[in-house]
Amino acid sequence: MSTQSIGLDNQLYDYLLATSVREPEILWKLRQETARHPRSGMQISPEQGQFMRLLVQLIGAKKTLEVGVFTGYSSLSVALALPADGKIIACDVSEEFTAIARRYWQQAGVADKVDLRLAPALKTLDALLADGQAETFDFAFIDADKENYDGYYERSLQLVRPGGLIAIDNVLWSGQVADPQIQDESTQAIRALNEKLHDDERITLSLVPIGDGLTLALKRHSNS
Ligand SMILES: C[S@@+](CC[C@H](N)C(=O)[O-])C[C@H]1O[C@@H](n2cnc3c(N)ncnc32)[C@H](O)[C@@H]1O
Repeated sequence: MSTQSIGLDNQLYDYLLATSVREPEILWKLRQETARHPRSGMQISPEQGQFMRLLVQLIGAKKTLEVGVFTGYSSLSVALALPADGKIIACDVSEEFTAIARRYWQQAGVADKVDLRLAPALKTLDALLADGQAETFDFAFIDADKENYDGYYERSLQLVRPGGLIAIDNVLWSGQVADPQIQDESTQAIRALNEKLHDDERITLSLVPIGDGLTLALKRHSNS
């Protein structure tokens, strides 16, 4: 987990923030409030939020999915980058965390773009598939319990359209993925997914060392 990009010293990180991050005031306010939360380390970093806004605009996303909302920094980032008729189906299990997110979606005027589903995300994704929504999403962001990452990835791959993008957070896991001494369940799950994606011909792949490591998986067309 990391609220700033790993591998940069403080001086260089401050430079990056000062010279490149254009954070809307509402996101800044949410980040200040989240910083006082006991689980603040779960929030994505501001430069990653900005990068995700760029990605969403780059692919012209309208219909998006988020797995893991917490206090809402990533969903609010994406919502601000979506067109007026854009949508996010946002999955989480915590009423408490997402109450903060709801407050900020309201304040930012994007609440009508966000459809919060409070249930285990695997259930929500299965329900979307059962509802005939395969290949209707443009963008998916995966940032919840690591043990289920493979399940979230496989379902997201069915839900995004060819040419759609899946972004997977924490794939460098504060460096723990590269340390063979570390064998807890979360680390093993991320490591296994990283290795699987390296050979996955269904996607075009890039692991970007921003935040805590962000994998980008572009769903290929069947003939590409
Ligand atoms: C790392 S935080 C998400 C951070 C968020 N993306 C942000 O930018 O602030 C992970 C979230 O996943 C949620 N979560 C954990 N297990 C879950 C599950 N099985 N289904 C849905 N959400 C889950 C937690 O409640 C928590 O809010």
